[in-house]
Amino acid sequence: MTQKEPVITVDGASGTGKGVVSQIVAKRLGWKLLDSGALYRVLALAAQKHAVAVDNEAALKVLAEHLDAQFVTQVNDFSVILLEGEDVTDTIRTEKVGNAASKIAALPAVRIALLNRQRAFRELPGLVADGRDMGTVIFPDASLKFFLTASPEERALRRYNQLKEKGISVNLTDLVEELRERDKRDQERPIAPLRPAEDAICIDTDHLSIEQVVALILSEVNKIFPVVTLE
Ligand code: C5P
Repeated sequence: MTQKEPVITVDGASGTGKGVVSQIVAKRLGWKLLDSGALYRVLALAAQKHAVAVDNEAALKVLAEHLDAQFVTQVNDFSVILLEGEDVTDTIRTEKVGNAASKIAALPAVRIALLNRQRAFRELPGLVADGRDMGTVIFPDASLKFFLTASPEERALRRYNQLKEKGISVNLTDLVEELRERDKRDQERPIAPLRPAEDAICIDTDHLSIEQVVALILSEVNKIFPVVTLE
């Protein structure tokens, strides 16, 4: 890690829009993107595939260390995610995999096993890192840190619409409940809990569109890196 490889971190709970915001910001800057949640999701799927229980920390550590996951960027900047060569881009987005990911993400050995893999995404001209602990643990020296928030109801509704668009049918009430459970687990875990870094800029996205959040982030980026924004 050197000062020459700038990092912008975008942390927050699911449904705050941080995934899509990070994608757009990375694209406009022409920087690389780390979707760290996808890494935990792929690991959860690998555990399911190899019949490893979500609380078997020792086995999950080994699985994480040898995880054969690839993020392949396509011409349209869309990333295809492969697990052991198989396209799992859509499979990892289900609520079932998300919940399993949140359980295994609470295990210290798993987080440590995935640490260097995440830091390896850092490269020139820069990286936009999306997750829960990007600003606090993985890239504490990031040039800029953002923390996105939104009310649980708004987030559940966004998630509901997102899944519906993908043809995945879910019950909105169940989604609110699952979201609260997942939040609680993510916020209360002893290692790398979901919380803003001390030097993070917090953005409440409840009444903002994706484009407005992107504009806010890019205006901060431009203060530090005046000429990098691509149109
Ligand atoms: O962001 P996404 O919903 O894809 O993340 C899935 C789960 O992975 C989260 O609920 C969280 O528990 C975990 N995660 C994490 N640290 C990250 C990214 C995701 O613990 N940096």
